[in-house]
Amino acid sequence: MNTTFAERLVDWQRHHGRHDLPWQQTQDPYRVWLSEIMLQQTQVMTVIPYYQRFLQRFPDIQTLAAAADDEVLAMWSGLGYYSRARNLHKAAKVVVAQHGGRFPTTPEQIAELPGIGRSTAAAIAAFCFGVRAAILDGNVKRVLARHAGITGYPGERAVEQRLWTIAEQRLPVAADIAAYTQGMMDLGASLCSRSKPLCLHCPLAADCVARLTGQVDALPTRKAR
Ligand code: ADE
Repeated sequence: MNTTFAERLVDWQRHHGRHDLPWQQTQDPYRVWLSEIMLQQTQVMTVIPYYQRFLQRFPDIQTLAAAADDEVLAMWSGLGYYSRARNLHKAAKVVVAQHGGRFPTTPEQIAELPGIGRSTAAAIAAFCFGVRAAILDGNVKRVLARHAGITGYPGERAVEQRLWTIAEQRLPVAADIAAYTQGMMDLGASLCSRSKPLCLHCPLAADCVARLTGQVDALPTRKAR
């Protein structure tokens, strides 16, 4: 294989990934952050109108920070998982009070804000600031568990730790980190699906351990029960 994992993924993302989503038209960390939080438990097509409406009412982080709690919750109404909205509001206040209204730029600082975990912090830093940081959400765990042939339930700490290490090893050296990050998300959400993955179209199939060893349907390992 003479092109790297990252190069093949970025090339695939350019040709087959998503480029037209509203939060892909901006590098404003407030907007990207909002989209990532909404997308954590909600499908893209459901998120889009909520995202637009939320931004009409709260166009910037200062406006959000100054809003009343019940108004923020009202704009979230229907999306569910309301702790996301409460944390979003809390974090906006922290950015205004402690960061002078400027969203922090390093994954470590971003991950200190309420409701933002390591993976979401990395995604925001990559999309908005070009920081080379690894993401590891549920879809990415599936891509990496298969490609690297990692067995064991990813909900277990030791398995998750191995996947983080692999996620960091696979990061592009030169290629565009934003396209790479979006490519990992898009591949996990499309070709590398839980059931009936479309390996024949996958840019990572040639050296995918799960595919080479007939374990695609068995990985990632399901929770023991
Ligand atoms: N799910 C989580 N983040 C996403 C993004 N940036 N684009 C599409 N789906 C996502």
